[in-house]
Amino acid sequence: MVKEINYDIPLRKISLPKYNEVAKYLKKIDSNKTYTNYGPLVQNLEMMLANHFGTNPSNLVITTNGTTSLKTILTRIKNNFRKSNLIEFNSEEKFYCILPSFTFSASAMSIVESGLYPIFLDIDKNSAQLTPQIVENYLNKNLNFKKNVIAVMPVSPFGSRLKKSDWEMFYFKNNIEIVYDEAWCFDSFIKNKVGDSAISLHATKSFGCGEGGVIITNDNKKSLELRKIINFGFDQNRISDSIGFNGKMSEYNAAIALTALEKWNENKSKCLELQRYYIKKLCSLSKIKILNGFDTTFAWGTLPLIFEKKINMEKLILRAAFNKIEIRNWWKQGLHNFPAMKEFPKSCLENTISLTQRLINVPFYPNMTIKDIDQVCLELSHYDR
Ligand SMILES: Cc1ncc(COP(=O)(O)O)c(C=O)c1O
Repeated sequence: MVKEINYDIPLRKISLPKYNEVAKYLKKIDSNKTYTNYGPLVQNLEMMLANHFGTNPSNLVITTNGTTSLKTILTRIKNNFRKSNLIEFNSEEKFYCILPSFTFSASAMSIVESGLYPIFLDIDKNSAQLTPQIVENYLNKNLNFKKNVIAVMPVSPFGSRLKKSDWEMFYFKNNIEIVYDEAWCFDSFIKNKVGDSAISLHATKSFGCGEGGVIITNDNKKSLELRKIINFGFDQNRISDSIGFNGKMSEYNAAIALTALEKWNENKSKCLELQRYYIKKLCSLSKIKILNGFDTTFAWGTLPLIFEKKINMEKLILRAAFNKIEIRNWWKQGLHNFPAMKEFPKSCLENTISLTQRLINVPFYPNMTIKDIDQVCLELSHYDR
């Protein structure tokens, strides 16, 4: 067992709604007598979130978590691919989804769980994102894989915006489905012209409700198929006519989410104020930079920083812990390094290896104080000499 450290300044300080704040929604559940299966609170949440994301409620699907959102999008792609190519369920042929190795385990796990195989590719060294160019270079060199790659999953690193116009061009040129892993993008989502997005409402994100997920699609015919998948693939007669599973959010989680939404604007403005201060303070460091894309146009869920040169990560984390500050290399050294992922194909991962030896996540949360930020920056200043 890892010994729990009591940090004065943790990586995230989670403050979900308190009992008395949620009570009015719990009373509604008691009187509605509906506890799950797309009940009135989930429907209400769907309207509120559609408004937040600037889309139509019929283009938005609420799920149990971000991983389920990804798995649902991928299952739909796989179901339709099998149907249109007359592929038997027990076919031994493998179908792939490309993703960057620099991401959280959930991205690859959702691919494996939906019956596809991951291929890990590199990232661009400036954006820390997978690019269409990296994918096309790989496909052109690996023509044997090309016809079996049925999806690509661009991943937003910790909430930075994805270059969706580039991915739209990629889609029209290559006819490969796009699944956007925007788990961290509650406040940095941009509408899709092609592809579907998965957003996490996990407690660690800028907006969370414990566990929860959202899918944002671009046409409501698709969202009907997605809704069916999260309800066991049932048709109107409760007959499973396609592969699905249980991915429905319960009314209880929706109650937390609806209560948390009431505080979103207040939390967001607290975040933006702290972000302005952090950016100003970090400007004085010359060897440590904020990851590209992290500005004050959206509320961050974490703050990723990049060192100019490779650092002794373990020593840095331990030294900070000694001073009661929590620092983490959240996504470790890339998924291709995890024992469970070793058997899957990968490309040259030069930028991933270099970046993961230099990237750390430092504390950030709405109730941080200016003094906390000063302390984190003081800790970092030891590495700026
Ligand atoms: C990049 C990425 N994708 C997917 C997920 C999965 O989201 P959830 O924890 O809601 O399942 C996470 C979670 O942190 C993530 O960081």
